[in-house]
Amino acid sequence: MNILAIETSCDETAAAVVEIDRTSHNIKILSNVVASQVEIHKKFGGIFPEYASRAHCEKIIPVVEEALSEVHATQSKSRRRGAWFKPSRALRTDFLAGKIESGIFDVAAPSDIDLIAVTTGPGLIGSLLVGINFAKTYAYANNLPILGINHLTGHIYSNFITPSLPHFSALILIVSGGHTGLVLMKSHDKIIPLGETLDDAAGEAFDKVAKLLELGYPGGPAISKAAENGNSKAYDFPRSMLDRKDFDFSFSGLKTAVLYESKKHKLTDKIKTNMAASFQQTVCDILVGKTIQAAYEYHPKSICLCGGVSANKELRQQLKKAVAGLPWKTSYFVPPMTLTTDNAAMIGVAAAYHLDEKTTWQNINAEANLKL
Ligand code: KG4
Ligand code: ZN
Repeated sequence: MNILAIETSCDETAAAVVEIDRTSHNIKILSNVVASQVEIHKKFGGIFPEYASRAHCEKIIPVVEEALSEVHATQSKSRRRGAWFKPSRALRTDFLAGKIESGIFDVAAPSDIDLIAVTTGPGLIGSLLVGINFAKTYAYANNLPILGINHLTGHIYSNFITPSLPHFSALILIVSGGHTGLVLMKSHDKIIPLGETLDDAAGEAFDKVAKLLELGYPGGPAISKAAENGNSKAYDFPRSMLDRKDFDFSFSGLKTAVLYESKKHKLTDKIKTNMAASFQQTVCDILVGKTIQAAYEYHPKSICLCGGVSANKELRQQLKKAVAGLPWKTSYFVPPMTLTTDNAAMIGVAAAYHLDEKTTWQNINAEANLKL
């Protein structure tokens, strides 16, 4: 069976088709299309929610079309049954009808799409609503079941691409622009939050520090690039919360420390790269330190890293080394680079493991502060 997955929780408009083999239950990503809004938000140095919603409105249809056509372009004509090209009668009176008539969008789902999955939260409400309303309309028009997925669950499942799968219990470090936390996954239906950030998320700290060091946007990739030429021991920034026994995080003190230090200097390239490297190392020490503390407490069989900040090469490597140093056998998982930052394939994979939660379009709603 095939799942059409949609993700618009923040500033990426994304659609993907994920296939589940009916006999082996293997999961395969058939297409994964992401339209980034980086160019739109660059001039503001951060995400401008109203512009994000508008860009989702413009991009959602072309992105879904591309995700579907990437799959069908590779399949033989005989598999493309008539419905693919025929507008559904149900939607002819809907607002999409104009687009159907003008040939912009064909509302009939390909006949091999069996389920719609969509991110329902957490995220920016205006952004979420675009993807959700599209998904509901598409499910209604095609009489398809729909499954709402928590965005953070999606990030977790970026590590669940067959054949190599994490074993339970799995300790998972989620590090994104809007969220930072540790969870213990005991089964597909039992995810226990262990701790989270009390203020800024790790990705948010990368973005804010990049802005104050004038390194550009988005901050994560900008900091990690600058850090390649810097000395990570040049500045000793505070590694907050590491002395505490709980599994919460805090990054706002670190951001303020970088701000005060940056004000003491003329920001030459050398100072910027040294500060970027020292900041990145501090974040890695905090994230790796807390994850290893939690590992000693819960003795997981697997440790997984996920979320946009999992694109950071230093973090990927340093956590890998720390996991390898544990005195019991623990497997380590990081998502492929294409599944680190926001995408719809991870939403489709999460849906593939929760098929029994499918429902009808009337039961799907946006929830900006949805919890795991
Ligand atoms: O998961 P994500 O795409 O969106 C949210 O769910 O928030 O994460 C985006 C975050 C941004 O803050 C971005 O700066 C950060 O991921 N990021 C990185 C890197 N690439 C993206 N942070 C550190 N190093 C990177 N290479
Ligand atoms: Zn995300």
